[in-house]
Amino acid sequence: MKPENQTTLGILGTGHLATYTVTGLRCSGDNRRIILNPRNAERAEYLVQNHHCEVAENNQTVIDQSDLILLAVRPWQLTDLLKDLEFPKDKIVVSAIAGLTIEQLRNKVDLPEKLALILPVVAAENAQGFVPIHPEIPEVKALADSLGKTISFKNESQFEEAATMACLNGWMYRFFDEQVKWLSNHGIDDENARNMVLHNTLGAAHYALGRPQQSLSELTGEIATEGTYTKLGLDQLEAGGAFQQWSDTLDMIKAKLDASDE
Ligand SMILES: NC(=O)c1ccc[n+]([C@@H]2O[C@H](COP(=O)([O-])OP(=O)(O)OC[C@H]3O[C@@H](n4cnc5c(N)ncnc54)[C@H](OP(=O)(O)O)[C@@H]3O)[C@@H](O)[C@H]2O)c1
Repeated sequence: MKPENQTTLGILGTGHLATYTVTGLRCSGDNRRIILNPRNAERAEYLVQNHHCEVAENNQTVIDQSDLILLAVRPWQLTDLLKDLEFPKDKIVVSAIAGLTIEQLRNKVDLPEKLALILPVVAAENAQGFVPIHPEIPEVKALADSLGKTISFKNESQFEEAATMACLNGWMYRFFDEQVKWLSNHGIDDENARNMVLHNTLGAAHYALGRPQQSLSELTGEIATEGTYTKLGLDQLEAGGAFQQWSDTLDMIKAKLDASDE
């Protein structure tokens, strides 16, 4: 039997997620065999040239030559992808398709017993960020461990919250951009502005990760003490509903994901 991090990975859907996932695996020294499907030839060629991937003749060959198959197409492309494909019982299938449950996947095609969900976000390209999985199949966990901080959920409904957080990952860049623009409007050059915003964020995350015994609100409270400018700004944000707005938006996305019947 192959070690769990040496299983051959086959990817169905050579798009954005596939590209950053392969890049992240190689970045963390994961040298397993990776087989891609031929559609999107330009991206596949890039991954062959830069990250030692192979391109199979067709989607069924990807499945037949792999141990672990990653589904990485858009939700509305899945039915067409699965048409005429067969998944032998000894394979492991892992879906990165946001919003699709295990039951919805099984309803589409006869899938092997070992079936899991994963959701790496773009930070996986540097083998960072969080990588939710459900259930914890050792080969899937080994894949996630090579892509960042694995968060393994026993319960599928908890995994679904991770899909909501994956959206928040995308909004953060817009939030960072707003700060960069504010600095630029006040005469800071683009490079310094970008570095200030991103290192401020990175530093805050590292500081909190180094203090697991303290809650995040405790950390805010230690900095935003009475009479400080930090407290003044925090009070204005709270009064304007800035944080509530983020929670409300997460609720809206979760409701949409729950209602999805792709
Ligand atoms: N990108 C993210 O940040 C992110 C984050 C979390 C989860 N996800 C999930 O990852 C999945 C993929 O997203 P993505 O952003 O990587 O999308 P994408 O860039 O559009 O990639 C999907 C790829 O699948 C290919 N494809 C479609 N139908 C196919 C078929 N029948 N056979 C073979 N290949 C086929 C597409 O080819 P064509 O271009 O020719 O259609 C495209 O290359 C989605 O379900 C999404 O929910 C993405």
